[in-house]
Amino acid sequence: MVMASRAYNVALCRELMQAVRGSGREIPLRPGRYESGDTLRLPLRGVWPDVRAEATFTIEKFIGGGFAGQVYRCVLTSLVSDEGASIEGLTVGNVYGVKILIPPSRFARRFRDRIYQVAFQVPFSAQVIASACEAGVIWQKVIRRAAALEFGSETSVADVYAWFFDEGQQAYGEVREWVEGRMWRLEADTRLGERRAWRTADPATCGSPEFIAKRQFMWRFVRLLHRMGAGELARQYEWGTLKSQPNLLKRSGHDADPAAGLCAFDFRAGLALLPFLPMSPIDVWLILRGLWHGSLVQFDRGDMTRLRAFIQEHQDHFEGMQGMLDALERSETAYRRSMPDITHHGMRLLTDRSLRADVRAGLVTGYGCADLVDEAFAARLNGGGAVFSGFYLLGAIPVLGRFVRRCIGNGAYRRHVKRFWAERAYRHAVWGAGLRHRLVGWIRSGRVSDPRARRLLATPAWFWVQAFTLRLLPAGLHRAVAEPRTVWERISATWQFMRSFFRDEAFREQWLGDQVAAGYKDGMLSEAERDRIMQHVRDPFIIKYLRSLGVHFATLPVTQIVSVIVATVVLITKLVQGAGWGVAGAYFGGILLFFQVIPISPGSICRGVYVVALMIRERNYRDYLVAAPLSFVKYIGYLAFPFQMITTYPELARFMGSRWAMDAVRIVPVFGEHGALLEHAIFDLFFNVPRVVGAWCARHARLVLNLWMLMGVTIYDIVTRSCSLDVKSTTNLLIAVVVLCVLPRVLFYPVLKRRGEGAVDPTGVE
Ligand SMILES: Nc1ncnc2c1ncn2[C@@H]1O[C@H](COP(=O)(O)OP(=O)(O)O)[C@@H](O)[C@H]1O
Ligand SMILES: [Mg+2]
Repeated sequence: MVMASRAYNVALCRELMQAVRGSGREIPLRPGRYESGDTLRLPLRGVWPDVRAEATFTIEKFIGGGFAGQVYRCVLTSLVSDEGASIEGLTVGNVYGVKILIPPSRFARRFRDRIYQVAFQVPFSAQVIASACEAGVIWQKVIRRAAALEFGSETSVADVYAWFFDEGQQAYGEVREWVEGRMWRLEADTRLGERRAWRTADPATCGSPEFIAKRQFMWRFVRLLHRMGAGELARQYEWGTLKSQPNLLKRSGHDADPAAGLCAFDFRAGLALLPFLPMSPIDVWLILRGLWHGSLVQFDRGDMTRLRAFIQEHQDHFEGMQGMLDALERSETAYRRSMPDITHHGMRLLTDRSLRADVRAGLVTGYGCADLVDEAFAARLNGGGAVFSGFYLLGAIPVLGRFVRRCIGNGAYRRHVKRFWAERAYRHAVWGAGLRHRLVGWIRSGRVSDPRARRLLATPAWFWVQAFTLRLLPAGLHRAVAEPRTVWERISATWQFMRSFFRDEAFREQWLGDQVAAGYKDGMLSEAERDRIMQHVRDPFIIKYLRSLGVHFATLPVTQIVSVIVATVVLITKLVQGAGWGVAGAYFGGILLFFQVIPISPGSICRGVYVVALMIRERNYRDYLVAAPLSFVKYIGYLAFPFQMITTYPELARFMGSRWAMDAVRIVPVFGEHGALLEHAIFDLFFNVPRVVGAWCARHARLVLNLWMLMGVTIYDIVTRSCSLDVKSTTNLLIAVVVLCVLPRVLFYPVLKRRGEGAVDPTGVE
């Protein structure tokens, strides 16, 4: 999962973290993540051969991070090894992906660690245990070699070169190949039924070649992973998790062939699969399968027996890898022995003394990374006995247990507590550091503007008041309450945008150019598609489309304003009539909600009226046949013109549709990630399905209009029978039914027919 990064003042964050580091706090506050432009100095270990080297990376960009860790795109700026040997695959000056196995968000970290704790009864191993990190990277190397068997080339899996321990965040991580590529294209497709036979279909002949090709690749890859004993890692590529699709990129330069250039790069799961906590539909099946094979908890356990058999079977192919495979066996064993993992070790924990010693060592390492113990106390814990048992049990006490453990186990923490109470200056330094550390998070999430951040630094009391009050609100709301001026600024910026968009043709053209450029950069458009779109920017229809978009933007607030006015009027009326605040409030909320869910709203009506007016003024019905009715529909009306122009400007239509889907789906946490299945489903639902339905209706226009007329008449009949309407209402209803339901059949249809459009095809589907 990727957490989108917004623009904020990186220099200010860096300045604050500098102050945090210089505060002299006995236990340093660690950064939640690094900034673009930061330098990372990391002691690397080559995956194979196991060469050590000191590396310096410059972070080009913080990409994001989900539950497993945080990803950076970095340039390797220096690499120095004692032994003179270099780490295979690393070249100074090249770009690499660095993943540090600690999530950037505190919530994600806690959630991941809790689940892992329940599953294996230790802190997240890949973050704190060397063998766990090492096993992961060697697995990736082995999988890469195996992938060549299945797909013909190792490039179908990203390479991984080194792993390291980052002192700054007390976490392990890995250096992997940076894959230049993109997610799938959201494809315009009206043959959705073909997807049912995805397993055997030829992607090139399908309506959605990239979708089918990716699905086939993942299916084959999952089966390969199972065959070679990496069944639990296969969960990262199971289609049905709904969020595995972004773990696979399509390398750049393979646009012509939908199946070419697919590359798997993420073998680090974040969330363990607990038998009682499925997190996606396929998890239910995976859990049952795991139970069948005797595995209650699934995460990244490799089946070494299977792997050995697989390698035996393809001995020639794995030639020269024996050393690496031995290292994998060693690290897998050490990793598994570093945790209690009672669902796998079971009774052996009671009977096997050396296993207990290993588990203890693993736990103690985890305590060290969490600053619970210092080295001296870690050595005592490693001795076992009552000291260890007592310390272990203390962990069961929430909150207080952690405090007591740190007091007992960590000399620096004891000094910290003592100085905090005894020394006024130290206390202030600690508060100052805490404030700055939190403020960095506020700046990144947009809770605070730069000037206010500086003001809060000068008035710490005001900061702490907010930290316990407004901090509980979502970031945007916190900002709006604390800085009402920014709300006003945003409104006025939006107003300016809409005004310029509405009035200024050059501005509109520029806007479209920017959108297209961004789409090209994201890989949504190929170079040829981008150029074709840009050639047509001045076509009369596109000019009209952009103008209508201006109307669309302008009408966006209409519904909100109308709904608030209506809701307020009703609220006041109810209060005046003597209703309590509870009832009146419920009416208020209900009305706001009502306006959000109805398919046609005041805003969309304005837009529809505009398009109809355009149609009448130009006496051009054909060009607006699809756009006019659709413009009246909320949400989807934005796509009215793209639907209309699908045959003439297919690239632009698809592009606007996919941007819309991407923006819409972003509000869904985890599953709304770019490239995940939900995004594709939303695009299908709002772009492809309406076209399929539209095409069907066009082929059966007479039937549809007959049914529509019948429905209108029936409703009229039912309403007039069951409600005792006065004459005026009955007449109004009759007029409405005739205009909306009868006229289209009686007048509109014959007109269309007369124009020689035997097969009216408003959706442009061939
Ligand atoms: N080696 C890489 N090359 C290109 N993009 C990458 C690479 N590693 C990560 N990314 C980008 O970062 C995102 C998150 O990385 P990933 O390793 O899948 O982390 P997680 O799934 O834990 O969030 C990916 O979806 C991808 O867009
Ligand atoms: Mg991932």
